[in-house]
Amino acid sequence: MTALRRLFPEPEEVEAEALFADVDFAALAPAGRPYVVVNMVSSTDGRATLEGKTKLLSSDADRAVFHALRTAVDAVMVGTGTLRAEHYGRMVRDERRREIRRERGLEPEPLAIVCSRTGDFPDDIPLFTDPEARVFTHVGPAPGEAVRRAHTEHGVRSVLLEGGPTLNAAMLADRMVDELFLTVAPLLAGGAAPLTILSDGHPTPLELRWALEGDGALFLRYAVTGSG
Ligand SMILES: NC(=O)c1ccc[n+]([C@@H]2O[C@H](COP(=O)([O-])OP(=O)(O)OC[C@H]3O[C@@H](n4cnc5c(N)ncnc54)[C@H](OP(=O)(O)O)[C@@H]3O)[C@@H](O)[C@H]2O)c1
Repeated sequence: MTALRRLFPEPEEVEAEALFADVDFAALAPAGRPYVVVNMVSSTDGRATLEGKTKLLSSDADRAVFHALRTAVDAVMVGTGTLRAEHYGRMVRDERRREIRRERGLEPEPLAIVCSRTGDFPDDIPLFTDPEARVFTHVGPAPGEAVRRAHTEHGVRSVLLEGGPTLNAAMLADRMVDELFLTVAPLLAGGAAPLTILSDGHPTPLELRWALEGDGALFLRYAVTGSG
């Protein structure tokens, strides 16, 4: 178990694995589309990658929160740039987490929603070659349409968006993002013109829901006000 300290709203000790035990994202879904939460990690100076990947920004506590989120949703959505950079496999391999999903009434393996403007999917990565993966591909300019299709065609009611910055920006522009989970890693990455968690967009107000600490990182949960 991975211990975290809640700093806001009420100070308390919490376990990362149990963070979402009482959170039903699907129940929060508005009519006609799933509830969508984004999970990203950044350095303290706002960088979304180090050496082109997220690994050096992550920690045991961050990985525990990352997997706890995957355990709580119907589908995980990711852009082709991130699939390639992070060499994605299927989403939930750990049998204990698959059992927790079954107990929550979810499929043991979340649906992977992958969208592309061009249809150039990285077919050679494990996500596409593993027969146990569940993959839903969508080709088109609006990722919100992919999410709506996953809702009507596969009954998806909750989506975890794992980036990257380009897809995040497009989903925000489509007003399809309800919450942001942001890990702030205890590290100054340095360097000019960093890639941030959003490649584009406009100022978007957020409302702080909780703040936790673990391994020296901050785990911030925000509501995105004004989603559609
Ligand atoms: N810090 C973090 O938490 C975090 C999380 C994820 C990724 N990353 C990092 O981010 C980098 C990748 O970022 P990225 O922005 O290039 O990748 P991305 O957002 O994962 O993927 C971009 C691709 O997604 C598709 N896409 C984007 N917008 C779309 C739209 N409006 N409609 C349909 N498809 C759309 C396009 O695919 P096609 O080209 O196939 O048309 C586009 O090239 C990697 O280095 C990764 O490590 C960091």
